[in-house]
Amino acid sequence: MNSAQPAPMRGRTQPARGAVIRENRLHLLDHPLATSLVTTLRDIATRSHEFEWAIHELTRPLIWNALHEEPTEYHDVCGFAGEPTPGTRLRRRIALLAILRAGLGMVPPARALLPDVTVYQIGIKRDEQTLEPLYYSSNLPESLGDIEHLLILDPMLATGGSARMAMQQVRQRFDGTLSFIGVLGAPHGVAQLLAADPMLHIFLAALDERLNEQGYILPGLGDAGDRLFGTQ
Ligand code: PRP
Ligand code: URA
Repeated sequence: MNSAQPAPMRGRTQPARGAVIRENRLHLLDHPLATSLVTTLRDIATRSHEFEWAIHELTRPLIWNALHEEPTEYHDVCGFAGEPTPGTRLRRRIALLAILRAGLGMVPPARALLPDVTVYQIGIKRDEQTLEPLYYSSNLPESLGDIEHLLILDPMLATGGSARMAMQQVRQRFDGTLSFIGVLGAPHGVAQLLAADPMLHIFLAALDERLNEQGYILPGLGDAGDRLFGTQ
């Protein structure tokens, strides 16, 4: 970081991690494998394909957690001995909304767990000078029809501006269950997003300390999109 860089977070108060971590709508992974995978993401030496792999491996337990209270229905199957065997399956229609670009990295593991899921995308890029989110595209339909639970996917929750903009677009057409699934969050972004929707739950692998003056999460991992797609 040099002095010519913009510093849009300079002088802005940020909530303390210790306060935000107590929010009951924030759910963090609590597992040694999760901290080890997050360490892989933080490591500047981690290459793009391994970075993508770690994002995939963290997305799986995050999806499990987000669907922890999902209702099920009876679904009998034919067992190995040819007998009807009682079972269950998820009852509700679920959809994903990936925030471009980095949210795309979370789609394959989510689809592997939820093969029938509908996948939407929304293009939002934050302005690095102001940190304001800039909307550039979306394939969200006017109505989400019979979808009952929408999972917003984006590995990074920094100021929360991008996620809030995505959520605003969603709430214009959907009043069902909404979850945000991310990998790293800053206290500022988590607090902003929870305040924007009283029903939203946030699922993260880790809650980091704060944002630096440029709006990057610390200790963070850098630019998630660049690291995923090798565009740095
Ligand atoms: C990154 C990240 C989030 C956003 C988070 O995207 O993937 O979408 O920043 O920052 P915020 O919480 O302050 O809005 P970026 O804008 O860099 O776009 P990209 O994924 O296309 O690189
Ligand atoms: N977006 C990123 O990709 N990384 C950050 O630290 C903040 C926003």
